[in-house]
Amino acid sequence: MKFDIITIFPEFFESPLSCGMLRLAKEKGAITINTVNPRKMTTDGVVDDYQFGGGAGMVFKPEPLTKALNSVITKESTLINLTPKGHRLTQNMVKEFTRYPHIIIICGRYKGIDERINEIFEPLEISIGDYVLSGGEVAALALIEGITRLLPGVLGNKDSADSDSFQTGLLDAPIYTRPCNFKDSKVPDILRSGDHRRIAEWRRKESLAMTIKRRPELLSSTVYSKKDFEILLEVLHE
Ligand code: ADE
Repeated sequence: MKFDIITIFPEFFESPLSCGMLRLAKEKGAITINTVNPRKMTTDGVVDDYQFGGGAGMVFKPEPLTKALNSVITKESTLINLTPKGHRLTQNMVKEFTRYPHIIIICGRYKGIDERINEIFEPLEISIGDYVLSGGEVAALALIEGITRLLPGVLGNKDSADSDSFQTGLLDAPIYTRPCNFKDSKVPDILRSGDHRRIAEWRRKESLAMTIKRRPELLSSTVYSKKDFEILLEVLHE
């Protein structure tokens, strides 16, 4: 899978892409990542200008972005414009993106990009959450990491991605490792019982309880068994 990142801060990506899972994914050839700097596509180095209609905040000019996009776009490309105005990113969207061979990510800066880029190139407009960052770079890293860890052969243990929060539609149950007793707090006995059926039941209950408490809106998109309903009723009455 190939990523092209359109950014005026290519150096921002150097350190995060050179450690951990992303470095390994690059070394294994699961991903290739390239940056394109729109500032290099200008003669005067200027990539922003005032807003028509007035108002605070500069706008990313359309010409340097167009040149940057045209330098990497092919028939296979999917374009993503990262913006707080976009559709909110979900794990299902991340999963879908793993099927795309080439993703071009536009990292906006300033108040945003000139709207005609959206009209002409029709990128998917995506937000990573309901808060405002100073640009799309942090969001691009989040998106790339989310996609890359799902690509075949990237994570050592496939199960660890399959059981993630959201991947199952629910938040994860609490997890523990050694020591068994830490500052007078003990690992729940059930997890040390070796009874895998009861452990699975305990985890499902904890997941459902955590989800109903913190993110009840997630419950509407999950498939439930009769047992789940019993657990939910129990949790609601606790
Ligand atoms: N750029 C600025 N804020 C953003 C957000 N929340 N998501 C994606 N891109 C952004």
